[in-house]
Amino acid sequence: MRAVVIHEHGGPEVLQLVERGLPEPRPDEVRVAVQAVGLNHLDTWVRRGVPGHRFPLPMIPGCDLAGVVDAVGEGVEHLRPGDRVLAAPGLSCGHCAACARGDDQLCADYGILGETRDGGCADFACLPARNALPLPDGLEMVAAAAFPLTFLTAWHMLVARCRLVPGEVVLVHAAGSGVGSAAVQIARLHGARVIATAGTPDKRRLALELGADEVLPSREGDLVAAVRGLTGKRGVDIVVEHVGEATFGDSLRCLARGGRVVTCGATTGPRLAADLRHLFFKNLSILGSTMGSRGELLQIVGLVARGLLRPVVDRVLPLARVAEGHRALEQREVFGKIVLVPGGVA
Ligand SMILES: NC(=O)c1ccc[n+]([C@@H]2O[C@H](COP(=O)([O-])OP(=O)(O)OC[C@H]3O[C@@H](n4cnc5c(N)ncnc54)[C@H](OP(=O)(O)O)[C@@H]3O)[C@@H](O)[C@H]2O)c1
Ligand SMILES: [Zn+2]
Repeated sequence: MRAVVIHEHGGPEVLQLVERGLPEPRPDEVRVAVQAVGLNHLDTWVRRGVPGHRFPLPMIPGCDLAGVVDAVGEGVEHLRPGDRVLAAPGLSCGHCAACARGDDQLCADYGILGETRDGGCADFACLPARNALPLPDGLEMVAAAAFPLTFLTAWHMLVARCRLVPGEVVLVHAAGSGVGSAAVQIARLHGARVIATAGTPDKRRLALELGADEVLPSREGDLVAAVRGLTGKRGVDIVVEHVGEATFGDSLRCLARGGRVVTCGATTGPRLAADLRHLFFKNLSILGSTMGSRGELLQIVGLVARGLLRPVVDRVLPLARVAEGHRALEQREVFGKIVLVPGGVA
């Protein structure tokens, strides 16, 4: 089979398309013939490397894959060859207390396909059978590969961590990012007023189409003043943060009394500078969030199948053009997701 393999960290040129033997499913695993695999910012971290963190190289990246079950390992009874599936990207032990109560993202052995073991940027991929979720009829492969990681993350941030209720005002940074495009829709679905930011006029237009009530520029102007202007000086109840150092200070200043900022990422850097007085006098909360449970993902799959949440696909590329996809993500040229198709673009 063909596979994109990262042998060493570096620029997009380290993404090599190579021939590899077909992987054999171990007990309780399935092998999936990959029909679509979505790119995430995560793939760029895995490719570049993160100081102080060791990735198990060489590795096949890619966590959001959809395809058809091609072979099943010993002990797999609920899936058979020919079944259409999408991958739940999070890997966990399945038997610790956190897993047992449905908090698998808190498992001490938590990992992600394409980050801690081989992922889906290949013709075939093996994964634990419990991670292969049935793909509802009518949900296309490309769409199925364009939402699991980011929608799960945004859902967990807003619903589980922030406990968003109808009528609250939510600020979503970078509505064109994978996480942002999910957060705008999830906040709307829960009855929030959504103020979004985006870097270009095109992205701002698309953010409005996605359901944002108002969209502000992210690369110019005073965000805090603009948010205060839109909210009668009150500020917002929730800020969805993933940009990091470049925006975190403003995110805190945009909050109303009792507000919370929830963060899952640090695209522009991990350092946090905050005035503690501002934090306690205004009763603010800073919440960290990573991934979410398989139960939450199943809920999301149902909402996507019903058309209540919509995966946003910027472009579809053949697998061999993976490096072009990474460059586009890093240059902020994408609204929504880039999806690779090993079988080629129809
Ligand atoms: N902890 C978790 O579970 C989890 C899950 C998913 C993602 N994440 C993290 O969350 C972040 C977003 O992920 P994603 O996949 O949604 O990313 P993405 O699709 O690549 O979007 C990143 C966006 O960040 C915005 N941005 C603002 N300032 C930037 C700057 N100086 N440099 C680059 N981009 C800038 C850009 O939007 P504009 O051009 O509109 O400004 C860009 O579109 C990443 O850091 C990712 O690792 C974490
Ligand atoms: Zn566990």
